Amino acid sequence: MATTMMNVNAVLVAITLALLTCSPRCIYSDDQRLMVNMTLVRNASALGAFCLDGSLPAYHLHRGFGGGARNWLLQFEGGGWCNSIKSCLDRANTRRGSTRYMSKWEVFSGILSNNASLNPDFYNWNRVKLRYCDGASFAGDAVYKNGTSLLYFRGQKIWEAIILDLLPKGLGQARKALLSGSSAGGLSSFLHCNNFTKYLPSTASVKCLSDAGFFLDERDISSNHTMRSFVKDVVSLHGLEKNLDENCTASSLNFPELCFFPQYALKFITPPFFILNSAYDVYQFHHILVPPSADPQGHWNRCKLNPAACNPQQLNTLQEFRRDMIVAMGLSYKYSRRGGFFINSCFGHGQSESQDSWFAADSPRVHNRTIAEAVGDWYFSRRATKEIDCPYPCETTCINLIPSTQALLQDLRSY
Ligand SMILES: *[C@@H]1O[C@H](CO)[C@@H](O)[C@H](O)[C@H]1NC(C)=O
Ligand SMILES: *[C@@H]1O[C@H](CO)[C@@H](O)[C@H](O)[C@H]1NC(C)=O
Ligand SMILES: *[C@@H]1O[C@H](CO)[C@@H](O)[C@H](O)[C@H]1NC(C)=O
Ligand SMILES: *[C@@H]1O[C@H](CO)[C@@H](O)[C@H](O)[C@H]1NC(C)=O
Ligand SMILES: *[C@@H]1O[C@H](CO)[C@@H](O)[C@H](O)[C@H]1NC(C)=O
Ligand SMILES: *[C@@H]1O[C@H](CO)[C@@H](O)[C@H](O)[C@H]1NC(C)=O
Ligand SMILES: *[C@@H]1O[C@H](CO)[C@@H](O)[C@H](O)[C@H]1NC(C)=O
Ligand SMILES: *[C@@H]1O[C@H](CO)[C@@H](O)[C@H](O)[C@H]1NC(C)=O
Repeated sequence: MATTMMNVNAVLVAITLALLTCSPRCIYSDDQRLMVNMTLVRNASALGAFCLDGSLPAYHLHRGFGGGARNWLLQFEGGGWCNSIKSCLDRANTRRGSTRYMSKWEVFSGILSNNASLNPDFYNWNRVKLRYCDGASFAGDAVYKNGTSLLYFRGQKIWEAIILDLLPKGLGQARKALLSGSSAGGLSSFLHCNNFTKYLPSTASVKCLSDAGFFLDERDISSNHTMRSFVKDVVSLHGLEKNLDENCTASSLNFPELCFFPQYALKFITPPFFILNSAYDVYQFHHILVPPSADPQGHWNRCKLNPAACNPQQLNTLQEFRRDMIVAMGLSYKYSRRGGFFINSCFGHGQSESQDSWFAADSPRVHNRTIAEAVGDWYFSRRATKEIDCPYPCETTCINLIPSTQALLQDLRSY
């Protein structure tokens, strides 16, 4: 397995090296996609910051230029969580738990693109992708050892090690900064937003964005707390409770692990925050609202693959989920002066890193604004951005986001 992966990487590097080089650490593939080299955090071992398998953590940095040279965008990679020794041991042998198995070159597109016509507001910033290999949204701090197996649950240390590595590279003198992330990485953005500001100059403008990270504390269709018990397992296995916001955990003493859910942590976050999420987020639909355990007969399978195949009762359940998401964002947030949101009605999961959904002629829009425009308007205070799309199926700009049947079938199989 390891050998195969290395050969694949070697071939990929060989292919990409043969293409046009744009600087020592980036390359354009033939279809003009920007690919950026991996940097291992060598000093991480001093902090005990390791991926699940003990490998060194990593990030990909593409330097800013011109007016963006002193601005920094940090994007947490996503990829679910592991909640048991078994699932974490499995993960440790994949690209989700080890930099050994990761691609050493990452495509930088959407919010990470360096092309002004594809990413109008952040293209010339320093852009960093933080690779995800701890299994708990960069927030755990524990080790598992039993004589034969060893697992590092050191997400919080990885976060610190990467920041400490970037500070002398210019992050420490940032004028503007945006902490962002997608999916499990979007959740990291909630968890680390306050801590991030403390490393930056007090004069810097620091804001945070979560893409597809607003995971709801919602019961499934059989009224079970499937997601809540999953989160409880993640928090306890990874020794994560101590890294949750103190003021939040103090306010929900009976269930401190609930502060892993953005809806409870949000009001304790100080910097301006932007929530980008689909109201029918496919991950949440398939894993929180209708996990396989809640639908053993598979009544929802057709509806999961294609919203047009949902019956009226199923659609009604989805509309209730959408309403709950809007309510969970909270009235105080809705009327906050500095916060922003873009809750659209597309069946997708993650919209900031794919060019099609971020900024393209046919990308999703709400009130005729693309996601790139909405986020830029909010970041630069050009215009308030508090967009909630009309409920499915009214939206016509979504077509390109419904995942292919093939991809969804694979998703269903992987349960
Ligand atoms: C990629 O990054 C590694 C480690 O940061 C470095 O040793 C290597 O020279 C880089 N390769 C290219 C082509 O930039
Ligand atoms: C930037 O993107 C536009 C639109 O896709 C494309 O025409 C142009 O060639 C790109 N520029 C670079 C330098 O890649
Ligand atoms: C350690 O844990 C692993 C995974 O649970 C298990 O397979 C192994 O047998 C355990 N070893 C010992 C010595 O208990
Ligand atoms: C790594 O740690 C050493 C010793 O603490 C320090 O001198 C060095 O500047 C660090 N390097 C980076 C890139 O942070
Ligand atoms: C960020 O959080 C970590 C872990 O809780 C803590 O050790 C560190 O001091 C915090 N950083 C700052 C600058 O407060
Ligand atoms: C908790 O709230 C107090 C008072 O508002 C504040 O000073 C402190 O920084 C907060 N702690 C965290 C971890 O946000
Ligand atoms: C609900 O959860 C309980 C406890 O985890 C479990 O025993 C039961 O099978 C679940 N029911 C369904 C329908 O998922
Ligand atoms: C929507 O925005 C585009 C530019 O992004 C503009 O050309 C078009 O006229 C707008 N449509 C409406 C209906 O406002």
